Amino acid sequence: MVGESGSGKSTLANLVTRFYDTTKGNITFDGVDIKDVTTKSLRQQMGIVAQDSILFNDSIKNNISLGINNPSENEIFHAAKIANAHDFISEFPKKYNNPVGDGGGMLSGGQRQRIAIARAVMKNPPIMILDEATSALDTESEKIVQDALENMMKNRTSLVIAHRLSTVQNADLIVVMKKGKIVEQGTHQELINLGGTYTNLVNLQSLENKK
Ligand SMILES: Nc1ncnc2c1ncn2[C@@H]1O[C@H](COP(=O)(O)OP(=O)(O)OP(=O)(O)O)[C@@H](O)[C@H]1O
Ligand SMILES: [Mg+2]
Repeated sequence: MVGESGSGKSTLANLVTRFYDTTKGNITFDGVDIKDVTTKSLRQQMGIVAQDSILFNDSIKNNISLGINNPSENEIFHAAKIANAHDFISEFPKKYNNPVGDGGGMLSGGQRQRIAIARAVMKNPPIMILDEATSALDTESEKIVQDALENMMKNRTSLVIAHRLSTVQNADLIVVMKKGKIVEQGTHQELINLGGTYTNLVNLQSLENKK
């Protein structure tokens, strides 16, 4: 999902995950209305890495393994490594047992995001929802985490909200949002051929990159 800031991308992700409910129309997964299943069962199918990752005032370890019964230390390390978080965690005095503070306040935005990615890796769900999952990272970490996310997205359904259009170029379907509505959808090539909103966004971004 792409589109300018405020176009409704995060809102759509919040509807799919039932943080909000639709007031009109419905959302179905494989033909089943998401209102016909419990929120718990719906979210069990999903890993969510949001724009602002919320962590619980608990240890790093418990934040990564949230909702997993009897997680092994090795599984936690493995998930942290995939999320490119192992190195910074190892530098804390108590390492994986270090508290993250209220709402994760003891960590930087990029570190919180990597903990959220490790949590999603650990959960290993059939559906991944990524809302600007690498937005708080510097370019170098972004590249590493992006590679990890791409590995993780193999063989599962992923809903990816991306500011950087190159991230979604290979998606099966690109959905373009504008002012709260879907205005275009198709593959990268189809949308380029269309020469509309998506093409404009691509042109704007290649201009930005040249600056
Ligand atoms: N809880 C809310 N109640 C009312 N309006 C909201 C709420 N959350 C978001 N909005 C409005 O809905 C519009 C879409 O917001 P949304 O967060 O979905 O945009 P976005 O496409 O994710 O933007 P960005 O790229 O900046 O993250 C915005 O105009 C926003 O101000
Ligand atoms: Mg958003």
